[in-house]
Amino acid sequence: MLIELKNIIKNYVNGDVVTRVLRGINLRIEEGEFVAIMGPSGSGKSTLMHTIGFLDRPTSGAYLFDGENTENFTDDELAKIRNNRIGFVFQSFNLLPRTSVLDNVMLPLLYSGTKISYENRAKKALEAVGLGERMDYMSNQISGGQKQRVAIARALVCDPKVIFADEPTGNLDSKSGATVMNILEKLNKDGRTIILVTHDMQVALHANRIVTIRDGEIISDVLVPEKDRVHSKEVKEDE
Ligand SMILES: Nc1ncnc2c1ncn2[C@@H]1O[C@H](COP(=O)(O)OP(=O)(O)O)[C@@H](O)[C@H]1O
Ligand SMILES: [Mg+2]
Repeated sequence: MLIELKNIIKNYVNGDVVTRVLRGINLRIEEGEFVAIMGPSGSGKSTLMHTIGFLDRPTSGAYLFDGENTENFTDDELAKIRNNRIGFVFQSFNLLPRTSVLDNVMLPLLYSGTKISYENRAKKALEAVGLGERMDYMSNQISGGQKQRVAIARALVCDPKVIFADEPTGNLDSKSGATVMNILEKLNKDGRTIILVTHDMQVALHANRIVTIRDGEIISDVLVPEKDRVHSKEVKEDE
């Protein structure tokens, strides 16, 4: 089992106010799955993703990653997992402006501790998302769809086991959204685990499993029958 959450609770405390955001989440995700997490705004999707992605620690409950209980891991150990085994893609791209596409993609390698050929790996990742030709562009000189593909290349460059994408198509037109979903599908076909947060059912139906949360609790967890899955083609943005 790649990810196993047992009764995960997350509270935010501000002064006297306690907000109970995750209220006992039990979830198991196997390597190679493509899981969509759905739910209304404010239901705790991003908080769940941050918890699973080690951007934040739960208030209580057990989290086993790849069979290891992560509770007593130090911040450094968690950062190591985050940098080497997890890739993140966010709605807002989060690229460094006035920095080349290639440098943006190389950045995680600088933190990863690996010494092998940063540039070649970054180029390969950019080729995998169809942007081999754009690596010398500045990140603010490319379209939104291309930015998100750079963000996917950056997420891929350390060869992570799992990719987390929080509303990756939320800021994109439908054509570039389709291209991004097409790339995520391909990565999943190659065996990578994908965990996707979305409130768009058409996007969620790319996954093989849909987990729905409401008010911090899982209210349904269903497999998507193969015949109902949506598949996106790559769409050239200048078409
Ligand atoms: N740092 C925080 N402090 C207090 N409340 C927070 C914090 N982060 C998120 N919340 C609250 O937790 C709830 C769930 O937020 P979030 O996980 O972002 O939901 P979603 O991604 O489903 O829209 C919201 O009510 C939000 O206001
Ligand atoms: Mg959110």
